[in-house]
Amino acid sequence: MGRLHTPALWALLLGIAGVAALAMFRRAPPSAAAPAPVAMQARRPAQPRALLGAGSCSSSGCHAGDPAETQHPGRSAYSVWATRDRHARAEQVLHEPLAEKIVAALARQDRAFGQEPAYAQRACIGCHATARDALASDGVSCESCHGGAGDWLVAHTLPGWRTAGNTLGMVDLADPFTCAQVCAECHVGGLPTADGFPREVTHDFLAAGHPRLAFELRSYKAAEPPHWRDRFAGAPSGAAADDLNAVPDPFVEWALGRRGTLHAYLTLLSVQAERSAGADRPAELPAGHQPLAWPEFAAFDCYSCHRLPLPHKDPLASPGGLPPGTPRLEPLQWALLDLATPAEQAAELARFREAVERQWWRAPSAEMLQAALKSLEHTAGPSKAEPETAGQLAQSVVAGVDPAIWNEAAAAFQALDALSARAESAGASATESAALQTGLKRLRAALEFTTEERSGHRLQFNSPHQFDAGLVAQELDRLVKLFESLPDRP
Ligand code: HEC
Ligand code: HEC
Ligand code: HEC
Ligand code: HEC
Repeated sequence: MGRLHTPALWALLLGIAGVAALAMFRRAPPSAAAPAPVAMQARRPAQPRALLGAGSCSSSGCHAGDPAETQHPGRSAYSVWATRDRHARAEQVLHEPLAEKIVAALARQDRAFGQEPAYAQRACIGCHATARDALASDGVSCESCHGGAGDWLVAHTLPGWRTAGNTLGMVDLADPFTCAQVCAECHVGGLPTADGFPREVTHDFLAAGHPRLAFELRSYKAAEPPHWRDRFAGAPSGAAADDLNAVPDPFVEWALGRRGTLHAYLTLLSVQAERSAGADRPAELPAGHQPLAWPEFAAFDCYSCHRLPLPHKDPLASPGGLPPGTPRLEPLQWALLDLATPAEQAAELARFREAVERQWWRAPSAEMLQAALKSLEHTAGPSKAEPETAGQLAQSVVAGVDPAIWNEAAAAFQALDALSARAESAGASATESAALQTGLKRLRAALEFTTEERSGHRLQFNSPHQFDAGLVAQELDRLVKLFESLPDRP
């Protein structure tokens, strides 16, 4: 199943050659004088927790056990991360030619980048390394995801740590909403790090050759070499009964993951809005910082501007009565929200989207952003998912997207993948599972970008330029029929 999830599906293709001259302003970290973006108070501890480095977790009695021993995956977390996880190399990639090329392209249009190599650029290391100085070469290590261990390293080894409900700053990654927010701080972008390094991949970065960021919790977790037991997969036969009862729902994981990712995206918008307000009072921005010109293209649908050849659709048509040519906010974030959030929140978020798109040349106000973020935060319960059968849910997924919009079709793929995982934990037969897997593979193949080898290199960027919306619609319908044919299981 692993291959079905590789994030390569997200790699987007617009060609890395020739950075065009129309440079945007460089984004600077929010001014110290500016009020903190709305989401900042909610998530940042007043005092950043001390970082201890991956070395603190690596004793063989702790997390550096043998990865071949899979009974207790947490015991070999360090070994798996150090040897197989891309995050351990995340700082190393800043020493490689692609990073050099990105920084050189950025420096050509913006002198603020200066002559420093990528690994010394403030604009890069916030997401590519957890800590600084000697610890930087650890790349993205344990504490970027699990939280600074300064206060809990000792405490978390004591008996009763979990059951007593302690955290001391350890992040609850078992909660998909929280987990997606943490991942998306780097995989979407957002607030600067506690020590003030920006976390934004702007359109300038993309034009300079940085991979497009697009995150979805389940597929990105599946693409990781796991050092954990997947609590959302059906427990293997022979597992203890309490494990089986504790199997949480993969569709709920999908829904909460979507909400956490959208929360990160709205936080990023609030950082950008804050920054663009600084454009009116550049004198107040700290030395060396430049204001942002709204809109930041990276927050919008790439294909609003980089048009795909879609013969059966009027390329200038905009849905919902928006004026032709209106750039839309990133559809991956907005598709299927009525399935991922309760109706009231979905409606509020839809109103936010529309208000921003109607006046896309103007940054949304802090009040609007705050309301949208709040509506995601105080959500209890998954969605309208519960009372429906798999067939009805699959119908809602497919009815909720426009198969001619690649990002929306991709969002449907992920929802259906989660529904399929749910059917498996609910006891689908081997034949049923195999049929669902085949259906998903076919849909994926219809969505996947063709890759190209050029002078021995696989092109990092790609685009759905051969996207056949008719075929995608057909595969979506096939999947609905498969879900409808599943017997009702409790
Ligand atoms: C908002 C966080 C963020 C910032 C800021 C950022 N990156 Fe990245 N970068 C990522 C993520 C996440 C990936 C992996 C994307 C994926 O595969 O989905 C990545 C991937 C890359 C890759 C591809 C690595 C590979 O293995 O092919 C390079 C090179 C890179 N970044 C360089 C840079 C440079 C240079 C800068 C500064 C100009 C920078 N990044 C700033 C988050 C960031
Ligand atoms: C990219 C993010 C990330 C990094 C980096 C990371 N982890 Fe994790 N870790 C996770 C996630 C996600 C889980 C699963 C959470 C869950 O479902 O309970 C997890 C689970 C764990 C668990 C519980 C395993 C289990 O299921 O019993 C341990 C222990 C752990 N990590 C230790 C570490 C250590 C030690 C490091 C550094 C060497 C590390 N992690 C690095 C994301 C990360
Ligand atoms: C501190 C920033 C940061 C956090 C937090 C983070 N990542 Fe990453 N992640 C990166 C960077 C940077 C890369 C690119 C590394 C490289 O290319 O070598 C990456 C790469 C990946 C890749 C490989 C992508 C590919 O194209 O092969 C996966 C999968 C991934 N991350 C999943 C996750 C998940 C799941 C979480 C949360 C549990 C998470 N990441 C949290 C920064 C982060
Ligand atoms: C509002 C319109 C708009 C949106 C939205 C937009 N772009 Fe662009 N893009 C442009 C323009 C204009 C250029 C040429 C000027 C420049 O490089 O900034 C460009 C250039 C690029 C380039 C460089 C192409 C080359 O050959 O030099 C890449 C890569 C790119 N965009 C990727 C993206 C991605 C990925 C997204 C979505 C996350 C996106 N763009 C969203 C307007 C847009």
